[in-house]
Amino acid sequence: MKEAFVIGHPIAHSKSPLLHGHWIDTHKIDATYSALDVAPEKLSDFAARLKNGSHVGGNVTVPHKEAIMAFCDQISETAQKIGAVNTLWLQNGKLCGDNTDKYGFLANLDQQLHGWDQQNDCAIVLGAGGAARAILVGLVERGYKTIFVLNRTIERADALCQELNKALNTNALQSKNISQFNILSDHADLVVNTSAVGMGGSKFEGLSLKTLPRTAIVTDIVYTPLETPLLLDAKAQGLRVVDGIGMLLHQAVPGFERWFGLRPTVTEELRQKILGAN
Ligand code: ATR
Repeated sequence: MKEAFVIGHPIAHSKSPLLHGHWIDTHKIDATYSALDVAPEKLSDFAARLKNGSHVGGNVTVPHKEAIMAFCDQISETAQKIGAVNTLWLQNGKLCGDNTDKYGFLANLDQQLHGWDQQNDCAIVLGAGGAARAILVGLVERGYKTIFVLNRTIERADALCQELNKALNTNALQSKNISQFNILSDHADLVVNTSAVGMGGSKFEGLSLKTLPRTAIVTDIVYTPLETPLLLDAKAQGLRVVDGIGMLLHQAVPGFERWFGLRPTVTEELRQKILGAN
């Protein structure tokens, strides 16, 4: 039997066991996928057990996504650019790491809005934390010419833009204070919230979607609640919206395929199952 895992600390809230469990059942694979609480000081021991073949691979979540990189023998180019690993597998005794968040973000938009990236001129990304990084790498890859990174703490946006512009060999990323949204938004094709605002129904103060082009897309990676105040506002303005649960579902696909040799699909049934567990 093949065993896979998600490690984090804490980990009880993780939806990954339900998600991978659904695909294991659907495809009748002889496998398990378990949530393991690994404290930061135990990460090194855990990595050693993995290299000894304890599992076929698994997922990594907060707070281990950066720290696990030190134990990997190979890290994909994408994970190096993002600066974090969320998927592990063993190959010829080597511990390999990838980051599938960029894939998950892009695949979700591709599935929900076919051809969404054909304008790819100007995007606004709200937030400059860990979650922003994968999305920014994805937007640069899809050819966005200008990407404004808006953050409450401008120094954090400055540092992130500087680092990623260099790593991606571009100058598309520009840091701005979040208060500048209303004056930057009239040319934006896409708005992505990667910040914690929206969780539990919290709202951005003073942010107006009225000046966005009518063709703009608004998406949020927050999915608790599924319809964040930002998405509800965008909907009320008649804009196209994409909620955050799809990114969670799609980012799981490449890992499952690596561990079990079968590419699963993101279906409406799965989406409803995960939403029902909220
Ligand atoms: P994650 O890995 O989920 O991105 P993080 O690295 O803690 O988590 O980043 C959280 C992001 O949400 C940051 O951009 C943070 O802004 P600051 O850098 O200014 O802290 C943003 N954020 C959290 N609460 C916020 C709030 N009330 N208003 C605006 N931005 C907020």
